[in-house]
Amino acid sequence: MSAVLQDPTPFLRPMSKVDLASVLVVETSAYSHPWSEAILLDCLRVGYSCWVCELGEDVVGHAVMSVAVGEAHLLNLCVSPEWQGVGIGRRLLRRMLRVAADRQADTMFLEVRTSNLGARGLYESEGFGEIGRRRGYYPATEGGREDALVYAKALL
Ligand SMILES: CC(C)(COP(=O)(O)OP(=O)(O)OC[C@H]1O[C@@H](n2cnc3c(N)ncnc32)[C@H](O)[C@@H]1OP(=O)(O)O)[C@@H](O)C(=O)NCCC(=O)NCCS
Repeated sequence: MSAVLQDPTPFLRPMSKVDLASVLVVETSAYSHPWSEAILLDCLRVGYSCWVCELGEDVVGHAVMSVAVGEAHLLNLCVSPEWQGVGIGRRLLRRMLRVAADRQADTMFLEVRTSNLGARGLYESEGFGEIGRRRGYYPATEGGREDALVYAKALL
């Protein structure tokens, strides 16, 4: 754990365009292959559920999800390295589960790198189960590829 969560309390709210610079800082600091501003802008433009977690003045995490025809797809869940391990990822994930259920999704799907044991631990502890594998789905270091595990959770 790199930080202790006391005050201020994490506050979750929908993302807007003005958050993009802060979201990109978190994104690039947390991922080896971060999303670009153009991808994040597209997610806002098409109306995906895009949320941020604020801590005081700072945006310290974000989540992006699409919901359509009864299926929710969690496309991104990310917490600033400085604030990982203090419960923010779980809060964001639970909010996404609630938003998906409110929008009548019956299942949430997501992909996760096989090597991402932290994220896998979070998803499994929230009731997600592995339903498949996409071979070579993610770019990896030195031009290689890494498999994705597909996880799902029933929401009804
Ligand atoms: C994955 C991620 C979103 C988790 O967010 P977080 O705020 O660090 O997680 P939390 O503090 O809410 O922890 C929730 C659970 O995740 C698991 N977990 C988190 N970090 C872990 C680690 N380093 N090793 C093992 N399990 C870990 C644990 O099950 C933990 O529950 P516990 O504290 O009760 O043991 C965050 O680490 C992150 O942004 N990582 C980089 C981006 C990423 O990989 N996103 C996921 C893409 S699929």
